[in-house]
Amino acid sequence: MKKKLKIAVLISGSGTNLQALIDLCKEENIPAEITLVISNKADAYGLVRAQNSNIKTEVISHKDYKNRAEFDQKIHQILLYNKIDFVCLAGFMRLLTKEFVDLWPEKIINIHPSLLPDFKGVDAIKQALDAKVKVTGCTVHFVTPIMDDGPIIIQESVTIEDKDTLDSLSEKVHKAEHRCYKQALKTIVSKQNH
Ligand code: GRF
Repeated sequence: MKKKLKIAVLISGSGTNLQALIDLCKEENIPAEITLVISNKADAYGLVRAQNSNIKTEVISHKDYKNRAEFDQKIHQILLYNKIDFVCLAGFMRLLTKEFVDLWPEKIINIHPSLLPDFKGVDAIKQALDAKVKVTGCTVHFVTPIMDDGPIIIQESVTIEDKDTLDSLSEKVHKAEHRCYKQALKTIVSKQNH
């Protein structure tokens, strides 16, 4: 039997995308399992979601490290210690150093709530509303040292209606994110040789 891909999910917050990935691994018979969730925030609700599914959690506060390089090195060590094969960023609000990303080539993916390359950075959904565009969406992409860059794996568009508010649009984009992240992970797992 093919060995299961061991996935770590890095979070900073509520973890609805983490939940979508947990559900995917539970519901579908894919050769992948989430074996570790790392948060840089001790109060991230995603940690509770992981614990509810009996997934190991680690809190690594960036505040305990002198600089980004040392924080990233700690994360790298924990990933190695836990024999992680692949990393999903799901609302992880820290920029990763080039040195770290280079240690995990094509092994880290991220989800962003816009149709990249539009609306990079924080508040992407608000940026789309403010720009008065009619379509936005979400993107799953490989992580490179440049923020919200890197080869795109999958995108889903979301129509912005005149009546949309930040809340209603956020809800639509997040639903699209959960579908997209599941699909992206399924596609990647099916192509991995490990
Ligand atoms: C998502 O919108 C994701 O695209 C962005 O951060 C948010 C995380 O939401 N990178 P959640 O914690 O998965 O609910």
